[in-house]
Amino acid sequence: MIRLIRVFKSFDNGRSYAVKDLSLEVASGETLVLLGSSGCGKTTTLKMINRLIEPSAGTIEVAGEDVMKQDPVALRRKIGYVFQGIGLFPHMTIAQNVAVVPRLLGWPVQKRRDRAYSLLELVGLPSERFADRFPDELSGGQQQRVGVARALAADPSYLLMDEPFGALDALNRELLQQELLKLKQELQKTIVFVTHDIFEALLLGDRILILHEGRMEQIGTKEEILSRPATTFVRDLFAKPARQLAAFRGLRDAKH
Ligand SMILES: Nc1ncnc2c1ncn2[C@@H]1O[C@H](COP(=O)(O)OP(=O)(O)OP(=O)(O)O)[C@@H](O)[C@H]1O
Ligand SMILES: [Mg+2]
Repeated sequence: MIRLIRVFKSFDNGRSYAVKDLSLEVASGETLVLLGSSGCGKTTTLKMINRLIEPSAGTIEVAGEDVMKQDPVALRRKIGYVFQGIGLFPHMTIAQNVAVVPRLLGWPVQKRRDRAYSLLELVGLPSERFADRFPDELSGGQQQRVGVARALAADPSYLLMDEPFGALDALNRELLQQELLKLKQELQKTIVFVTHDIFEALLLGDRILILHEGRMEQIGTKEEILSRPATTFVRDLFAKPARQLAAFRGLRDAKH
């Protein structure tokens, strides 16, 4: 499991805080969604879990061990990471990109390739068409799927996903969301998933954590949050899509 205990992060020696006094626990097999608007500290929080960013104060544990006492490379190998905005290696083929961690782990070539090909199929990119291309020969949404396949490659117990479906159109997004739901049931991964999309949070999160200006506004199941919003901020956040949905229904029904 993953645990944060009173974590703070400042990028300017304490003048301001990107993350303020954040404590949370993600149970084994659970998906926690970090939800909040741009700049609220989602990516910073995620990156502190695998030490891409180091906290200014507080403790972070993965599998019961302080991450600051773990070797960062070993730590990152057991945690799949989907970067916000893709981050594929441009000089590597798609199959090589997917197999980066298996290669670091010393898997034999054939096993690496089989794994990459089957993951490409899983994310809807047939290997015969995509495996040998380079990232700049794929659309943004296709590249994002490669990023998801890459994070899954070494079958890590932990997955950190930073707006992994952000560049996808609504249909493909739904497809991958459904795939992730299936995967999560089958493979029992512990997942921290970042999004600013409320519907995505409601669909994927066993629990949802709402961040605002680096602080936790609320954490809970969707039922808890929808029925008992802890703050005005949370209430307003969920009131907006409800209004949009009502407006959409109004438009649709007016046609008949
Ligand atoms: N390396 C950095 N140096 C200085 N400030 C940073 C750095 N990284 C992030 N910040 C600041 O920390 C705050 C939180 O940033 P973060 O990237 O965590 O936001 P986010 O919630 O992921 O936003 P978005 O939805 O736009 O991706 C922002 O105010 C940002 O400008
Ligand atoms: Mg971000």
